[in-house]
Amino acid sequence: MGQPTNRVFSGVQPTGNLHLGNYLGAIRKFVALQDSHECIYCVVDLHAVTADLVQKDLQNQTREIAAAFIASGIDPKKHIVFNQSQVREHSELAWLFNCVARMGWLRRMTQFKEKAGKDSENASVGLFTYPNLMAADILTYRATHVPVGDDQKQHLELTRDIAAKFNNDFAERIAALGHGDSYFPLTEPVIEGEATRIMSLRDGSRKMSKSEPSDMSRINLTDSSDDIAKKIRKARTDPEPLPDNLDGLKERPEADNLVSIFAALSEVSSEEVLRQYGGKQFGEFKPALADLAVEKLAPINREMRRLMDDPAGVDAVLKEGAEKAREIASVTLSEVRDIFGFIG
Ligand code: AMP
Ligand code: TRP
Repeated sequence: MGQPTNRVFSGVQPTGNLHLGNYLGAIRKFVALQDSHECIYCVVDLHAVTADLVQKDLQNQTREIAAAFIASGIDPKKHIVFNQSQVREHSELAWLFNCVARMGWLRRMTQFKEKAGKDSENASVGLFTYPNLMAADILTYRATHVPVGDDQKQHLELTRDIAAKFNNDFAERIAALGHGDSYFPLTEPVIEGEATRIMSLRDGSRKMSKSEPSDMSRINLTDSSDDIAKKIRKARTDPEPLPDNLDGLKERPEADNLVSIFAALSEVSSEEVLRQYGGKQFGEFKPALADLAVEKLAPINREMRRLMDDPAGVDAVLKEGAEKAREIASVTLSEVRDIFGFIG
């Protein structure tokens, strides 16, 4: 069987507080790729327990991400939507990748350093090998493209390193078993557009994040229209009016962030936004941004609530997705077992 040429895979962790950065940096791109690619979107629940072992309500958090995918426009009938733990092949391939990846590669991962903080001796081994599971997610489906925010770039480079080492070290067997000169693709990241890195509304030097304690720092997909408007009104800014060109946003991270959010939500460039709002005060820009954010997010919010009112319905979508995913995953793992040389 040949390798797929246009298969997309991506994942989102069910760790609560799905926010505008997740939507603009990832989920909205997932939606856009559906017309041109075969897409597989996964709620990565196995990744969710790498940082905090005991999750408060993993089932509902998992449903909420699935609901957000569907409410944003992902069609689970045409594509695949499922949760990672239902497809055991991810864990099996992750083990094998633990043996492909080198200690030095993982030690360089900046996200581990950020998440483990000062007390890295006390971080779980799972947090350290997290990128191997992520590579396994992607390569179980031999996906060619992965839409993500900018913070995942290094993990995707590692995924390519793992694929390349596997292809290289097993080259003879891969050829002998009829898979040509490589088994895994060197997956391309899809990191582009205005919204690859949305920053906190309280501090333009920090990423908007699920785990930031201050809820005012992010716009959650579950926020009411009033909350969205309030958070934008209170977003930190400087006293200057907006500049009329991009150069004027340098050294003004909060202004830059709000302009990028406006650009991404209205699907125009930041230059275009500045053409319209250059010289205007935040007193005028913020209400326009709040209206735009509410206009785009309220329908998603409404549809998410509707889906979450029927948890069994969401579970059924995930189950059906897992069945479709397993059909692909079981073939890959059987071929990979052969390449390694295991019996059975
Ligand atoms: P996570 O919240 O870590 O599960 O991330 C899910 C997806 O959202 C990944 O593709 C991230 O790269 C993306 N993402 C997370 N935070 C941001 C952000 N502040 N700006 C843009 N993309 C983000
Ligand atoms: N590490 C990603 C994040 O934190 C989530 C993720 C897990 C993922 N597996 C993946 C993203 C596979 C893309 C492809 O955002």
